[in-house]
Amino acid sequence: MKLKVITSNPGKVIEYQKAFAKFDVCVEHCCVPYDEIQTSELEEVVKKGMSELRAKGLRNFIIDDSGLFIHVLRGFPGVYSAYCQKTIGNDGILSLMKCVDDRSSTFKCCIGCDIDNKTIIVTGKCDGHILYKETGNNGFGYDPIFTFDGKRSFAEMSIDEKNVVSHRGNAVKLLMSELTSLGLINTNN
Ligand code: IMP
Repeated sequence: MKLKVITSNPGKVIEYQKAFAKFDVCVEHCCVPYDEIQTSELEEVVKKGMSELRAKGLRNFIIDDSGLFIHVLRGFPGVYSAYCQKTIGNDGILSLMKCVDDRSSTFKCCIGCDIDNKTIIVTGKCDGHILYKETGNNGFGYDPIFTFDGKRSFAEMSIDEKNVVSHRGNAVKLLMSELTSLGLINTNN
């Protein structure tokens, strides 16, 4: 089975390639721009993006919208994660969290999949904490300031290790189970 991954983020592409390879799904990277509307739900961004891409004639693809939700900041940056990363970056988040004890946060990844004229939308989550400083050189975005296990940041994990526990890895597992129950894929191989 082949799926196009539509994103301009090379970090996401490599994570998807490795996560889907475990299910014998071949990932083809396509860079097709689409509007990311500003709304309070990741799922709304994904639905709008999917209809725009379908209107452009694309089929059998996935897109994702992801965000880091910091509990003490009432979910900020959340749906504003891309803007926040571009403007204040990880340093800005660490400043906002200076002297804050409750560092709990959740990464979310909403995947929209167009397949055989069907739409599947799933959201994977990963609970963790914001570190006190950037650590590690792998990954992208907020990876150096987020820890899942309290020991290593995502940026200190390999892609395979991150995929086992991450919001994106969990979203792929949910998607594969939906595709299996619809009879669109056989996960026994
Ligand atoms: P988007 O889904 O590409 O809009 O991502 C929103 C923001 O969250 C961007 O700044 C990404 O770099 C960041 N982001 C998304 N997924 C991850 C991740 O797995 N690790 C770290 N940062 C991420």
